[in-house]
Parts: sequence; C-alpha cells; structure tokens
Amino acid sequence: MSAKRSTAESYHELTNYTHETLRRVSAPDPGQQPAPFKEVVSSQRVPLRAYLPFGKDPFTGERLDPAPPSDEGDLGLAVLSRLLFHTYGITGVVQFEGGGGHMLRAAPSAGALYPSELYLVAPPLPELEAGIYHYQVAQHELVRLWEGDHTDAVQRALGGQAFPDTRAFLLLSGVFWRSAWRYGERGYRRVLLDAGHVLGNLAAYAPAEGWTAVPAAGFNDAALNGLLFLDDAQEAVLLCMPILREESVPRPSRLLRSSVTLGKADGSPNVSGPEALAASATVALHRASCCEADAALVEAGVGAAPSDRALPLTPPTRRPPVHAGRAILRRRSARSYSGEAIGLQPLALCLDSTFCRSAPDAAECWFPVRRSGLLDSRLVALRVEGLAPGIYGIEGAGEALLPLSLGDFGERFFEATLAQEIARDCAAAVAFTAPLHAAVERWGERAYRYLHLEAGHLGERLQIAATSARLSCCGIAGFLDEEAASLLALEPDEITLYFVTLGKE
Ligand SMILES: Cc1cc2nc3c(=O)[nH]c(=O)nc-3n(C[C@H](O)[C@H](O)[C@H](O)COP(=O)(O)O)c2cc1C
Repeated sequence: MSAKRSTAESYHELTNYTHETLRRVSAPDPGQQPAPFKEVVSSQRVPLRAYLPFGKDPFTGERLDPAPPSDEGDLGLAVLSRLLFHTYGITGVVQFEGGGGHMLRAAPSAGALYPSELYLVAPPLPELEAGIYHYQVAQHELVRLWEGDHTDAVQRALGGQAFPDTRAFLLLSGVFWRSAWRYGERGYRRVLLDAGHVLGNLAAYAPAEGWTAVPAAGFNDAALNGLLFLDDAQEAVLLCMPILREESVPRPSRLLRSSVTLGKADGSPNVSGPEALAASATVALHRASCCEADAALVEAGVGAAPSDRALPLTPPTRRPPVHAGRAILRRRSARSYSGEAIGLQPLALCLDSTFCRSAPDAAECWFPVRRSGLLDSRLVALRVEGLAPGIYGIEGAGEALLPLSLGDFGERFFEATLAQEIARDCAAAVAFTAPLHAAVERWGERAYRYLHLEAGHLGERLQIAATSARLSCCGIAGFLDEEAASLLALEPDEITLYFVTLGKE
C-alpha cells in the first residue's frame, strides 16, 4: 500500500470529534427520526413467544405455558426463540411521562437507535420450512420473506472459509440512517460497534443451548446483500453467523482481504437525510471495504506474549460461573456511577472472561482480529483497590497489566469523553484501540469493519462478565479522538475505537 491514505483512514479523520467539528454537528431533526425496527407485512408468520423461558409473556403479561420442544436436539423453534431473544430481543421498556415508551434490547445500542436487523437463512428444519426470515423484534416472531433453501448461496458467499456443519445462518445488517440521523457520518462507527454487541450476545448465549455461532465478517457483499434485496446505500449485511453444533466448530485463522482504494471520504460530518447517504463518506467507505467473490484469505498473525514488566493478573481459582443468559436479561447500561472503587479480583475476572483466557470457548473462534495483535486494549484505572490509578496496557488474553503512565486521569477522561459524568465517576474503563494503517495493510479497507465489529463484540463480552460479577457498565463511543489518544498514550498511527466503563451505581 502506498503511504497515501486509504478510504478507511480518510473516513476516520473526517469523523474525528474535535471541539471544532462538534460545533458543526447539527442537531437531529425529530421529524426525520427513523423507526428503530422494521415491520414486514406478511401472512407467513412464525410466533416465538410461547417458547420464552418465563412464567409470563413479557409482551402481554399473560401466563405462558412453555410449549414443549419437539426438536430432539435439532435447531427447533424453542432454541431459535431463545437464541433470538437473548441476542436482540426486547428486555426492557423506558416509559415516557404522558404515555408511550421506548423499547430496550438485549444488546446495548449507541443512543438506543438500534441500527442492526437480523435475518435467518434456514434449510428445511423439523419445525420450520426452508426460507429467508426476518426477526420481527416487536412481536418476537419470524416472518418469512422468501421461500426455498438459500443456505448454499450463503456458503458460497463466504468464499474459502469452510463452515461445513452449519444448520442455519443468521445474517446481521446495519441500517445506516438510524444512526446517521443523530450522529451523521460518525454514525457508521456506531453501527459497527452495535453489530459487534449483538454478536457478543449470540456468541455468549448459544453454548447454553448446545449451539455455537461463528462470526464471519468477511464475505462477498454483493451476494449477501443481493440475497436480501438490500440497497447498500441504506442497509447492508455486516455479519454472517453460521449456527453449528458446539462440537463441530472450526477455528478460522484467516480473514478475507478487500482491496485498498485510495479514496477520499470528504464532505461535512453531517448527513441531511436518508437520500443523502448514497453520496456520503459512510457509504463510500462501506463500499470500498466490500469483498468480491475472489477475495483473498490472509493469515491473521499472532500477537506478542505479555512483556516481563507487566503485572500478572490472577483471578480467583474458585471463580463464579458466568451465566450469559441471566446476565443478558439483567444487563442495562449504567446511567450514573457512585464513584465507589471496585476490587482488582472482579476486574481480573471480567478481563479473563472478555478475552477468553482460562475458558476458551466458542467465542474464541471469532475471526481472529484480537489474537492478531492488531486490536489492542488499555485500562483506564481510576478507582481499583490494590491498583495504582493510571493507564495500563492489557496484555495477552487479559493476563497482565503493563503500567504506561500512573496518576489520576479522571478529569482528562471526563473531558475526552465529551464531559460525560459516567467517565468521571466510573471505577475503570477498558479502551479498545488499533494501529489503523497497519490493519489496512493486512486486511485492506475491510479492516475498518473488522476492528469496530471486534471492539463491539469484546465490549459485549465485558458487559456480560461485569453484569455477572454484579458490576455496572456502559459503553462510550462519543469522545474527542485526539484527547482520547493522548490520554491512552497511543502511538501516532493508533486510533481509539471504543470505551467500556465499569463501576458501581
Ligand atoms: C456502541 C455504544 C456506544 C455507547 N455510547 C454511550 C455514550 O457515549 N454515553 C452513554 O451514556 N451511553 C452510551 N451507550 C449506552 C446506550 O446509551 C444504551 O445502550 C442505550 O441507551 C440502551 O440502553 P441499555 O443499554 O440499558 O439497554 C453506548 C452503547 C453502545 C452499544
């Protein structure tokens, strides 16, 4: 690649927040606010509520007599119902004064705008006819869009990656305007982070049902968007998630590489409406990062081992199990923290679980971005018992902390995150960072997707672990990029992708 900037770097720079660019961001127009989910009109509906693991229907309050599963170990409606609910179902409602409310999901979402949509591509299953289905979140049901078995077309779109024992595929798309409405061009970063969170739930919960979701973020875009008839200036597939039996999970070590286009993503950080997306930097980058049918698979590489100077982190040998399902149903983003300290042991447990250190599970087979060493993480320690406040590198699979600069960084973290009080009052935060230029050299423009999807995925693993450990948590995707990089002591090519704060409410 030449020293010139790729589209990914150009997009990133355009969407950096500075005091100056923030002044130019226009307020969202309430009249143009998009709905947070699709509602498809179809007579071919497959209700899933009867299979929820609750005594009462959370939608109507009526008593539920759970329908007995008749799938005999196959992917039946009971499993699909619980998989979808724990991945992206409605798990809470914020009531507005004067009536109405806003539905909250199993996965967090920047600004609660919920740009992700889920589709199921199924062969004939014992309780479900073959077809392409849309997950209708507001009713918790599947709606058939097209008949027939299209799983071969999805397998082909995955190129040389083999997922031979796949029983069905979940496709996750991003609807760009839902996020661009509030965040303009920077919304695309959040669309990718949000998608990673949704995947995090699926990957963490599926093993509880004896299944595994393997995330594939490299695929022939035109083929999958075409399968769903999506206009990629509005909505595009971001993840393809084969669902397989736990025991037959492949361990991919290679990623599809897109070519590098020295394109410019210029213009203003605002997007005036959905029709303006076609000419936006968001869509320019998304299209530049598409893979063709013959995209090359490149080795991901292996990251460095922890350095000798790092402080080893030893979580307790008797560790409480992480019940992903329970944690997902309980998880809510912290709205404020009390300013109390957290213990080093719960923090070590959360890192252990996030990076699959002592219990490598299905999620470890996530496309190997983290293990390549091109997705880094740092700890902002403000109030952790037994740990001097400061900025630490998180080494290996969360097994050691390398002190980078010690001191009280609470005020700088608060300022870098647009004066959000959760940053000042939290006990600690994990920052996900990456050397963008080097990542683009390895994976082409696609690197931008891989890095943000993986940061969201790890962020959700961290939130599930924190909720399990009775800590509160909240993501932060709104920050001044230069101030965040300087706080985290990043190298010039490194960018900040995302923060997840932890603490007590
Ligand atoms: C990618 C991402 C970025 C977020 N950024 C912020 C943030 O900057 N500040 C904040 O208070 N909450 C942030 N949140 C939390 C959302 O506001 C929260 O998920 C949403 O309101 C839904 O509520 P719930 O998480 O309790 O379900 C973020 C969440 C995600 C997934």
